[in-house]
Amino acid sequence: MSKEPKLVGKVLFDEKQIRKRAKELGEIISKDYEGEELILLGTLKGSLHWMADLSKCINNNAIYDFVIASSYGSSTISSGIVKIALEPTQNLYNKNVLVIEDIIDTGNTLAYLIKKLEERNPKSIEICTMLDKAARRTNDIKPKYVGFEIDDLFVVGYGLDYDEKYRNLPYISYLEADDVESL
Ligand code: IMP
Ligand code: MG
Repeated sequence: MSKEPKLVGKVLFDEKQIRKRAKELGEIISKDYEGEELILLGTLKGSLHWMADLSKCINNNAIYDFVIASSYGSSTISSGIVKIALEPTQNLYNKNVLVIEDIIDTGNTLAYLIKKLEERNPKSIEICTMLDKAARRTNDIKPKYVGFEIDDLFVVGYGLDYDEKYRNLPYISYLEADDVESL
């Protein structure tokens, strides 16, 4: 039986810090899209809590939509193969789309998703990510709005999972090498 990783109390960002940052970005986004309608396109499941925090701080006329795009299996290493398991339900033609992402690592998932979304001819597409591992990027994906830039750590909590677990931690924690070996 694998032992549980040591996550409890290992806080990279707590709820208060995340909400404060969501408020700051929400105010910027509200100004950037002033007078415009906005489709907030959340990437499930990871962006759930971040989208909830952020969307309440955006005072534009906003519509919610969701996609499921994944390139990870059950490990911490990207498979490189992107699968869209849920498509947006809204008509994105000539709309401002703000993709709400949990974390960008290599950028593979978003590069594929953005290419697919562009085929629907939206008016604009931008990205707002809670976390950015910018140093790991292997393409030119550049989020316009970033909650926090982080080092190359495998993070969990606040929506982020390891093998579908730990999404409900009310803070962002991280796995260390010996945690991963013990799973
Ligand atoms: P990318 O395609 O390499 O940019 O990976 C993006 C996706 O991988 C994210 O939307 C997450 O679902 C997952 N991911 C990347 N890094 C982490 C992490 O540190 N913790 C949990 N999930 C991660
Ligand atoms: Mg994931």
